[in-house]
Amino acid sequence: MQFLGLTGGFASGKSTVREMLRLLGTDVLDADGIYHELLLPKDGKPSTLTREIGARFPGVIRGDQTLDRQALGARIFDDPEERRALETLTHPRVAQVVALEVERLKAQGSLLVVYDVPLLFERRLELAMDGTLVVWVPRTTQLQRMMARDHISREQAELRLKSQLPLDDKRKRATWVIDNSGPLSETRRQVERLWKQLLRR
Ligand SMILES: Nc1ncnc2c1ncn2[C@@H]1O[C@H](COP(=O)(O)OP(=O)(O)O)[C@@H](O)[C@H]1O
Ligand SMILES: [Mg+2]
Repeated sequence: MQFLGLTGGFASGKSTVREMLRLLGTDVLDADGIYHELLLPKDGKPSTLTREIGARFPGVIRGDQTLDRQALGARIFDDPEERRALETLTHPRVAQVVALEVERLKAQGSLLVVYDVPLLFERRLELAMDGTLVVWVPRTTQLQRMMARDHISREQAELRLKSQLPLDDKRKRATWVIDNSGPLSETRRQVERLWKQLLRR
């Protein structure tokens, strides 16, 4: 089985490319999606991860036992130490789910698993992967798509970008690059070509 990482930056098109690969029949995993599932209340009680986050960041659990992600985001977004504290709680739990999923897919005979994980290179996860796929766009396009999707100002978008390695650096480390700066049809063409190449590997 090939285990490949899919990464990029904020709004560079990771989810878009992951969905294209999924529609082609590839088994895909999604770090953000797993994180959200780990936060869902269980039997009306906050999940284990939600409770752990609530203990470290008082006041971020709402009355209905869900995590107030906006309140949490405000606490960490320009504070690297607090961000690291949150990541120390969340990353091992997500990694545990991914490891179980990979075992399950391997047992099913899957030949190709693609894992969408935003901080792949920041966390050096490529060392345990058979290759990496970076979804790249120029910085100006990235800022525009962040502003449009998340309804934020240019200043806010630029501030968020500071917490990630620049896409131009990630691109240099990638095994394969998908240029998502053009229309979706152009991205799909690149994804299909890469997918065929991966199946032959
Ligand atoms: N090639 C493209 N052309 C125009 N808009 C795009 C393109 N690719 C992605 N988008 C849009 O840009 C935003 C970010 O894409 P998304 O796949 O969610 O990025 P990521 O998962 O990397 O954050 C979304 O609103 C998406 O619809
Ligand atoms: Mg995404």
